[in-house]
Amino acid sequence: MRIRKAVIPAAGFGTRFLPFTKAVPKELIPVIDKPTIQYVVEEAVAAGIEDILIIVSTGKQAIQDHFNPVFDLEQRLEESGKIAELEAIRKISSLANLHYVYQRELLGLGHAVLQAKPFIGDEPFAILLGDTVTTSDNAPVTKQLCDAFDTVQSPVVAMETVPMEKVSRYGVIGGTEERPGLYRVHEFVEKPSPAEAPSNLVVASRYVFTPEIFDYLEKTPRGKGGEIQITDAMKMMLADYPMYGRRIDGRRHDIGNKLEFVKSTIEFALKRDDLRDDVKVFIKELIGE
Ligand code: G1P
Repeated sequence: MRIRKAVIPAAGFGTRFLPFTKAVPKELIPVIDKPTIQYVVEEAVAAGIEDILIIVSTGKQAIQDHFNPVFDLEQRLEESGKIAELEAIRKISSLANLHYVYQRELLGLGHAVLQAKPFIGDEPFAILLGDTVTTSDNAPVTKQLCDAFDTVQSPVVAMETVPMEKVSRYGVIGGTEERPGLYRVHEFVEKPSPAEAPSNLVVASRYVFTPEIFDYLEKTPRGKGGEIQITDAMKMMLADYPMYGRRIDGRRHDIGNKLEFVKSTIEFALKRDDLRDDVKVFIKELIGE
């Protein structure tokens, strides 16, 4: 079955990016001139997804404002002949069918995803974390997961390798490689110590699930950090259903992390024709070459 729907959790506080995120949602942190969540929506659309539910909370109104049309601005751009800007603005509000739901209590990622149950109904769907951009020289990462889902017809999570000392920041996977890059999962552990971790393969911010995940989320107790963790629901589901991990062909950019934000800004600037040369000159000057 084709994946037509996606969920973007965007309700959490951006405590790692304070003070900026005091008044602005972390999902609106820009990389060059586009907010993080717009890259995320574009990634979903590039995977063929048509309907997207964004999970928000109080203080996140600016996310909806970003995607809603602003007719006065469009008129002003049209009158002043700024056609490229006009097209860019119009494109934002016509990317996909966007829907919103409030997570009233911030009880964790698993609880956020549970808010999507009525929207998803009885079909497979993707989850893309709203504070993380991915890049790839080949197919977009969500498309890679959808293609893997087509093959195995079972839930698939994006995976990447991290240094062992960093595993405690992630959901960690124990699995067996069945085909190149595709692992049958036999263990999920949320944020273990390096000693407890089954490997250094971690869940990398994108998932494709079948709707059964909601049955498990409904019975998931609070776990790490007192939060309802999606990893704990995945662990329970593993007892009843096969699950897979797809090693992503590409890079994950966790924009809510300050160093990653700086690195991504430079990397994206060096990929843009309008910025590359000037940025290169500036960096060379800066490091005194
Ligand atoms: C969440 C998940 C974790 C995953 C990570 C990156 O953690 O709980 O399993 O590895 O995203 O995708 P968070 O970064 O919200 O603490």
